Amino acid sequence: MNQLLLCYSVATSERKSEVVESAYGASVRETIPTSIKLDRKTGRFSVYAWVVLGFNLLVILWGAYVRASGSGAGCGSHWPLCNGEVVPRTRGAETLIELTHRTTSGVALLLVLGLLVWAFRAFPRKHPARLGAVLSVFFIITEALIGAGLVLFGFVADNDSIGRAVYLSIHLVNTFLLLAALALTAWWASGGSALKLRGHGALSLILCAGLVGALVLGVSGAVTALGDTLFPGSTLMGGLRDDFSPTAHILVRLRVLHPTIALLVSSLLIFAARFAADKRPVRTTKRLAWALAILVLIELCAGLVNLILLAPIPMQIVHLLLADLVWTCLVLLTASALGEETALSHVSNRA
Ligand code: HEM
Repeated sequence: MNQLLLCYSVATSERKSEVVESAYGASVRETIPTSIKLDRKTGRFSVYAWVVLGFNLLVILWGAYVRASGSGAGCGSHWPLCNGEVVPRTRGAETLIELTHRTTSGVALLLVLGLLVWAFRAFPRKHPARLGAVLSVFFIITEALIGAGLVLFGFVADNDSIGRAVYLSIHLVNTFLLLAALALTAWWASGGSALKLRGHGALSLILCAGLVGALVLGVSGAVTALGDTLFPGSTLMGGLRDDFSPTAHILVRLRVLHPTIALLVSSLLIFAARFAADKRPVRTTKRLAWALAILVLIELCAGLVNLILLAPIPMQIVHLLLADLVWTCLVLLTASALGEETALSHVSNRA
């Protein structure tokens, strides 16, 4: 796509390049050369960046399994050691589940540090992939610290405090931001152009509202997941009765919020996808918009199935996987629709 854009901008008439320049200013021209230099070295980096994103996704899903299976205290209240030892001698299922999570999180941290070093070697100064890698390192470090805090503050096993719900919400927001940073690193390394928030009118507002909405929806989901883990219902009707009972635990009563927020935010996301595809009718943006709308619809169905089946663990993991995919797709759609080159080609097409 980048090569095409380059050929396009070189081959088009003076008149078209004037239009582009007057609408977007000189900065647009400056960004083209950095993003078209997709040589072998950066090509390999981009593959690595997508793999690191995938690996982190698996670690996140395993983290949900740790919570859902009640194994968060599998290493006692020790961190980074497990039950006070590097390799614990007593290995029950809970200890193994928690230890696997710690080990794979450690590998993820090393992979992201590798991403940073490689990004600085492969890309020139001011290239957005470098920024993505710096943000990825920042959010994986905060992710590790938040994870450690869960254990050290005792927000594990059957702790049903509001503090735990707030803490898990912060954890989810950080996880989403980590995924966003990793996805953007891979995107920019693959030739996506830098974000430009200004000059898109309502489009940037709608996409930003979608991003904030998705974060709020994720947080409400994390609270629901905690409520389901601590107070599993034995029947659907019994669970729904508890949701509305004034004497039920606050985490049970909050559960009802999530499906409501899901319906509102899903409508916003589908609208945002449609709007982005209309305003930026570039192939990648249109494909991402379609992917987002389809993922949102599948996730709504998965949420309903989750509710009806009383959130069995495999369904919780599928639901979280879909939520992470919805989020990542939304981030990429935003990057594509608000990228400088997409805007550039859009104006060129109209000229
Ligand atoms: C686009 C729509 C949706 C998104 C992005 C979403 C996102 C999430 C997230 C991030 C969690 C927390 C998972 C975890 O921490 O393990 C969650 C949990 C949950 N969601 Fe949703 N959700 C959506 C729609 C729905 C709908 C429509 C329902 C019900 C009708 C629903 C029911 C549940 C339930 C029961 C849980 C708790 C059990 C679990 O962890 O899976 N969700 N959701």
